[in-house]
Amino acid sequence: MTKQEKLNELNQKMAACSRCVLRAGCKQVVPGEGSTSAGIMFIGEGPGKKEDELGRPFVGAAGKFLDEMLEKIGLKREDTYIANVVKCRPLENRDPLPEEAEACWPWLLEQIKIIEPKLIVFLGRHSMNRFFPDEKISEAHGKLLIKDFGLNSGGSPKKQHFFALYHPAAALYNGGMRETLLNDFKKIPKALILAKSRGT
Ligand code: URA
Repeated sequence: MTKQEKLNELNQKMAACSRCVLRAGCKQVVPGEGSTSAGIMFIGEGPGKKEDELGRPFVGAAGKFLDEMLEKIGLKREDTYIANVVKCRPLENRDPLPEEAEACWPWLLEQIKIIEPKLIVFLGRHSMNRFFPDEKISEAHGKLLIKDFGLNSGGSPKKQHFFALYHPAAALYNGGMRETLLNDFKKIPKALILAKSRGT
């Protein structure tokens, strides 16, 4: 099976998921989108209103900001993969509950396993804390985080590279945070080169 076929199959399974209460309150599942051979994968928190309407991740105001930042560092959105911790919109845009993030976790792990990104970029603390529960975004943002995560093709632990950012929606209307996010974003190309050069 090709990566695309595996992802299509996974997307169908996600579309039929009702492991938590979020599915009952949203219009549709937003699985994620992008290139199956992406070297970089962005992980946000969960779909908002616009994402729920269109079935695509990061297509509202935060998404527009993300697109602008991608353009600034010469990355095309379609060459990346963009997903979320939860695939269904929490009502009133509340934070996903731990049990909802937990229920959706196997889907995210499957996505990572299929795409095999060299670098995973966290969009916000919720995404980062799924992988690094003890990190604080105020300290970890703009830094490369490395952790044994999954197995490589030889069956030994794989060193996965991660990079944490403030959430674009949080930074959008906060001058200081916006500046920090823009500066951190500019560090992505170097982090990606490093992650690729150390490829496991
Ligand atoms: N915020 C997120 O975390 N994800 C989206 O898809 C949109 C906004």
